[in-house]
Amino acid sequence: MNHPLIERLATDERVQLFSTLQDAGQSPYYRTMHSSTGATSNVQGVDRIMLGSNNYLGLARHPEVIEATTEAVRRFGSASTGSRLLNGTMSLHEELEAEIADWFGTEDALCFSTGYQTNLGTLGALVGERDAVVIDEFAHASLRDGLRMARTSVHPFRHNDLGALEDALITARRGSPEQILVVVDSLYSMEGSLAPLSG
Ligand SMILES: Cc1ncc(COP(=O)(O)O)c(C=O)c1O
Repeated sequence: MNHPLIERLATDERVQLFSTLQDAGQSPYYRTMHSSTGATSNVQGVDRIMLGSNNYLGLARHPEVIEATTEAVRRFGSASTGSRLLNGTMSLHEELEAEIADWFGTEDALCFSTGYQTNLGTLGALVGERDAVVIDEFAHASLRDGLRMARTSVHPFRHNDLGALEDALITARRGSPEQILVVVDSLYSMEGSLAPLSG
């Protein structure tokens, strides 16, 4: 007999929608790639133009990057086998972070393995229960997850609407927070819109 939690999934409307799409061969999810990602990619045996990857600068296939990655694996092995906090910080991390800080002219830099982890890791360090956050309604889900972990009060505003942002700031101030952080994406990956940031 199935566990009740597994049985519940069978009637979940999101699971049903996914199954329907998958049965019709129309699901965009979990497509298998058979090549590295560049301008084109082999998707389930067919070469297709790739419009969905994060390989913006084409570095995933760059010969020098591949060479350096291979050399790093030979020297350091295939995994850090520890958290950054304890035994997982390698000289390679420090070299990379120093170079990024130098490039951006910042005091220091910290790399995360994924964007999701970045947003989870940074928001909780910046804000907490005594603060408030004003966030664009279309900000990436990882930012909203990060804010849940930060246990801060969250005030969403209409996408890219500066008047709505001002209203949300006024509402947030009513709770007398110590600090208010405004959170936006610079480029909204689903909509293709840019936040109205100057500078
Ligand atoms: C704006 C934004 N933030 C965070 C992420 C999450 O990044 P990752 O897929 O590396 O976890 C994405 C992913 O597409 C994104 O577009």
